[in-house]
Amino acid sequence: MPREIITLQAGQCGNSVGSQFWRQLCLEHGINQDGNLEDFATEGGDRKDVFFYQSDDTRYIPRAILLDLEPRVINGIQTGPYKNIYNPENFYVHKEGTGAGNNWAAGYDMGSQVQDEVLDMIDREADGSDSLEGFMLLHSIAGGTGSGLGSFLLERLNDHFPKKIIQTYSVTPDTINAPDVIVQPYNALLALRRLTQNADAVTVLDNGALSRIAADTLHVQEPSFEQTNRLVSTVMSAATTTLRYPGYMHNDLVGIIASLIPTPRCHFLQTSYTPFTGDNVEASKTVRKTTVLDVMRRLLQPKNQMVSTKPTKNSCYISILNIIMGEADPTDVHKSLLRIRERNLANFIPWGPASIQVALTRTSPYTQPPYTTRSPPRVSGLMLANHTGIASLFKRIVFQFDKLRKRNAFLEQYKKHEPFRDGFGEFDESREVVMDLINEYEEAEKANYLSGGKEEEPANGGADSRTDAVTGR
Ligand code: GTP
Repeated sequence: MPREIITLQAGQCGNSVGSQFWRQLCLEHGINQDGNLEDFATEGGDRKDVFFYQSDDTRYIPRAILLDLEPRVINGIQTGPYKNIYNPENFYVHKEGTGAGNNWAAGYDMGSQVQDEVLDMIDREADGSDSLEGFMLLHSIAGGTGSGLGSFLLERLNDHFPKKIIQTYSVTPDTINAPDVIVQPYNALLALRRLTQNADAVTVLDNGALSRIAADTLHVQEPSFEQTNRLVSTVMSAATTTLRYPGYMHNDLVGIIASLIPTPRCHFLQTSYTPFTGDNVEASKTVRKTTVLDVMRRLLQPKNQMVSTKPTKNSCYISILNIIMGEADPTDVHKSLLRIRERNLANFIPWGPASIQVALTRTSPYTQPPYTTRSPPRVSGLMLANHTGIASLFKRIVFQFDKLRKRNAFLEQYKKHEPFRDGFGEFDESREVVMDLINEYEEAEKANYLSGGKEEEPANGGADSRTDAVTGR
């Protein structure tokens, strides 16, 4: 029985990332631009029905709902090469089409106007699945639509589908260099509240880190969104490989989340991927060696992380799941884990099993020769990690928020919309939620975290208690 996932894409970033993701899934599953299976796609063994359903004429249609408050990006999708794969009933563009003007409150407020129509679409998709596992929201948190409408949807999904998993891929703004949206600290903080309270797992992708990695691997100075989105879709494809090419474990969302998120509030995940080869020949030449150990070691290097964090000396991993693709021998994996442990390359929390979990997974046969001329690397890997250092990103957002808020800057445009018509309490409450989240991550670095701060021996701590687990194909 498939455990289906419905994807919601909101705003410019959400829809651009989403369209790249669907292209990638089509390539991997041998689905052509009209939704039909390619003649060569006969190998089977994959689970297309997690992300696609079949129409009456047997075409594969993404379980995707595309939402925006302005038409540009969705128009591009509707006239682009993959325009025929989507269900035309699953596009929602607001009639006025003015967007949310980079204002979280405008997007959130618009949510109540559009909710009947949008929830109807979501219900229709949910009714069309046999065993819906949950939702995946793709958005950025710096603008107005993905951030504000996305927040509104997270709340409604929670009420409407209390038992379903809500996972998000949330693009956070570059908080280190100059902001591209001046009010992004407001928007990001307000959205972070909903990501904390209404989502089960959030994969954080930081635009600053994405641009840096794209620039390094593709040898370009200023990568385009198309280039960074290709990185994001590679990560999303790898993160969903075990769902689409199932093995013994991690073959549903709940399995992945349970292995990474031991306490519900610390549910913000970081990713690393290696090697990125892309279409750029030069880039693929730079990574010559792809043994399992090399891949696992590179996954732990800060420069490969898709979030720019500033870990402190106490920062540590809560959990790690490495998804290893390609020709990986389980013995090599065991040796690599041993080496990583000997070298102390990853510090773990003192209160839980300090383990790197490894899923060896099958991948698409159609992205390898003879179906394509480009040879993929022998081994590639994705790390999904829960690391307390993520709190430094939230701290930067709060710091930048406080700077704006102290000056009462740009408040007029927020005042025009709910929930700010009667005051700015929403700002204070959101800030409090994010500060609690930061605090939670800091507490998680202590041995007595599970006992709520009381003195207690670590339950299963220390380097000797590592129980690295490898699951095979
Ligand atoms: P409004 O424009 O206010 O209606 O909201 P929106 O959600 O459509 O805005 P958008 O998605 O453009 O959010 C702005 C943030 O997203 C900025 O930080 C941009 O740098 C970033 N962004 C926009 N498009 C993309 C994209 O295709 N890829 C990536 N990685 N980031 C994007």
